[in-house]
Amino acid sequence: MSDTSPAATAAPESLLAAPDQATQSQITQEIADLHAEYARREAAGEQVPTTIHDFPPYRSSILRAPTKNPKLVDPETIELYSPAFGQRDVAVIESDLTLQHSGEPLGERITVRGRLLDSWGRPIANQLIEVWQANSAGRYIHQRDQHPAPLDPNFTGAGRVITDDAGEYLFTTIKPGPYPWKNHINAWRPAHIHFSVFGRAFTQRIVTQMYFPGDPLFPLDPIYNSIPRQADRDRLVSAYDHDLTVPEFSMGYRWDIVVDGPDATWSEEEGEH
Ligand SMILES: [Fe+2]
Repeated sequence: MSDTSPAATAAPESLLAAPDQATQSQITQEIADLHAEYARREAAGEQVPTTIHDFPPYRSSILRAPTKNPKLVDPETIELYSPAFGQRDVAVIESDLTLQHSGEPLGERITVRGRLLDSWGRPIANQLIEVWQANSAGRYIHQRDQHPAPLDPNFTGAGRVITDDAGEYLFTTIKPGPYPWKNHINAWRPAHIHFSVFGRAFTQRIVTQMYFPGDPLFPLDPIYNSIPRQADRDRLVSAYDHDLTVPEFSMGYRWDIVVDGPDATWSEEEGEH
């Protein structure tokens, strides 16, 4: 006789969840309370940062957020110790994540295109952009991602490209799926692509995430909501662009990245989900 009790049918990650984990409604309430508090502080004239690195609804951010001021380093000296951009030049084919194996990956093929800009709207050419993402089922090839969604033998989920003279980049990939994580009970990340942008020196690197329009998980996600202002969160959401959609081939999404100034794309500490 098969065991149909809730414990036997529940997904493994919920069986592993600690009994003191918060529910989604508790996390959603914490987010709403903090957003209201930041809005009050801003209305009172306080300079509220665009990035809240220690955002309690995003549980691990409390342990990971810096508690001291950043250490100042000499940008030239650190180049002698920091990782290199790679041992070889970036090949054009590395911007197509669907061509890395012998077969086609499963899922919705997409084209992601955008410009890398500074705060004056000037294009930033010859910059290395790296992306990494889950497959269409929401699974990463990573030892710590063991949730019960299939790996795709034809999809690794990492690519890179150099911006052209107009500061433009273009990736061909597969739309990533949402995936569960352990922040709270029934926590799911909205579908996203991780982006890393190198400036002209290692100390200028920024890391951020691109989302897809209309994701129903936005109001529930503590990472997305660690950015207090809606206008800043909106800058992380790509726009569907039918002119970028390739007939018979792929759906098009456009997303510009602004590296500094008041319109800067929010960036995160390293090690995010
Ligand atoms: Fe992720």
